Amino acid sequence: MDQNQSPVADNLAMFARDPVHGFGGPGHHRGRGAPAEALAALGDAAFRADILTPKGLDDRTKRFHVMEQAEALAADAWGADAAFYGTSGTTQNLQALLLSLAAPGDILLVAGNDHRASFSLALTSGLTIVPLTPAYDAERDVENGVTAAAAEAALAAHPGAKAVVIVSPTFFGVTSDVRAIAAAAHARDVPLIVDAAWGGAFAFSAALPPCPLTLGADAMVTSVHKTMGALAQGSVILLRGDRVDPDRLQRTLDCIQTTSPSVPILASLDLARRAHARDGEALWRGVLERVGTAASRIAALGDYRVYGDERLGAPGVADLDRSKLVIDVTALGVSGFDADEWLQSRARVSVVLSDARHLVATFSVGNDAGDVDALVAGLAGLRDAVARGELRRSAPGAGYGALERGTTVMLPAHAARAASERVSYADAVDRIAVELVAPAPPEVPRLMPGERVTAATAAWLAHADASGAFIPGAEGDERGTMLVVRDRA
Ligand SMILES: Cc1ncc(COP(=O)(O)O)c(C=O)c1O
Repeated sequence: MDQNQSPVADNLAMFARDPVHGFGGPGHHRGRGAPAEALAALGDAAFRADILTPKGLDDRTKRFHVMEQAEALAADAWGADAAFYGTSGTTQNLQALLLSLAAPGDILLVAGNDHRASFSLALTSGLTIVPLTPAYDAERDVENGVTAAAAEAALAAHPGAKAVVIVSPTFFGVTSDVRAIAAAAHARDVPLIVDAAWGGAFAFSAALPPCPLTLGADAMVTSVHKTMGALAQGSVILLRGDRVDPDRLQRTLDCIQTTSPSVPILASLDLARRAHARDGEALWRGVLERVGTAASRIAALGDYRVYGDERLGAPGVADLDRSKLVIDVTALGVSGFDADEWLQSRARVSVVLSDARHLVATFSVGNDAGDVDALVAGLAGLRDAVARGELRRSAPGAGYGALERGTTVMLPAHAARAASERVSYADAVDRIAVELVAPAPPEVPRLMPGERVTAATAAWLAHADASGAFIPGAEGDERGTMLVVRDRA
């Protein structure tokens, strides 16, 4: 296909040249009804582009097949058989994909270090999600990918499972052995779904790991907005092979997607695809050069350990996503959380996530040499601030290895609606969780509704909270507490 085409952007431009007098939505009608402050803040262009798909981007009956063409181009660009754009992030796309595969009562096997996007489906759908324990690197205290052996064991224990779901790349920049996990799943005719929220560009650069679809994944979902330059929420589902039915997926999407998808987001998806199809190699060569420069300059500061190729070959590590810079701050004697906060507030440098021991910086197509300078200067400033005693010293975190999942004793959808009471983490031991507990970012659930809370996980949460983790749902006065199923007295 001719990847120079951009049907969404072209039809948007055509509409702008020949606008209509609208008596439908959006009611701001190309900005005329928008509050002046909104126009001033967002600019006219944002409102002019904000039209609907029917009778805007396309006609009443989709006669011009604008989205169909755009998605066919996306499928071709990513080497997929079908593509589905979505404007509510990978969260909604992943949930729709999984809902198209599993019905209430079914089981999904999901990597324990995946984002809440997949796990939270259990609260609304009546599905049971069995977490697969990811490989753990105790020396660096990071969770890697799920191993094929772990996937195989889970498939054997749950022979009726409807899908295996893994996150690849992980938040810490490693990919799983997708080929081996796909083989294990396919031996039982189970589809492998890859949450590749951060791996959209893999298909476009030889310097990045291979795209999961080329390694046997049946479907992947990626947040084009995260790394490839689309507007926030722009995401795409990509299918390959015949284990995921595209028609059933489309019907599921029709049930849960908005009927007013954002055309600016769709246009940005279309154009990010075109830019990558044309220039992906050059774009990402530049990104990875900047990552390399940043890594060596940070390492030269002396107080930071930047994880590199020595991680290759560890369990659960098939390859490295070198666009993610994982920086260990242990030698400074402060937590990653406090370092993160100092960088954001004092150096105006914002990293994608922090934990007790690390800072993680993701480089994408929008990062330039000035960002590299700011990151390096920020880390130098942080080191000096620590030396001046401006940050509190903190003991090392509890470590992800201390986590221990409890058994699921109640269907998550039922537990989430059960009568509850709020108790301290210590008092939650042996009780049944009502909430999904996922320190943010990266919002990886450490407890699911219906799970019996283990002493190890309760202690880990208490430790995480004390060292500065942000645990949504346990803020303010409720810090250090969680909801559990109320005892029948
Ligand atoms: C691995 C992973 N999956 C899914 C999501 C959700 O993506 P989105 O923000 O596009 O909904 C995220 C967001 O951070 C993520 O990191």
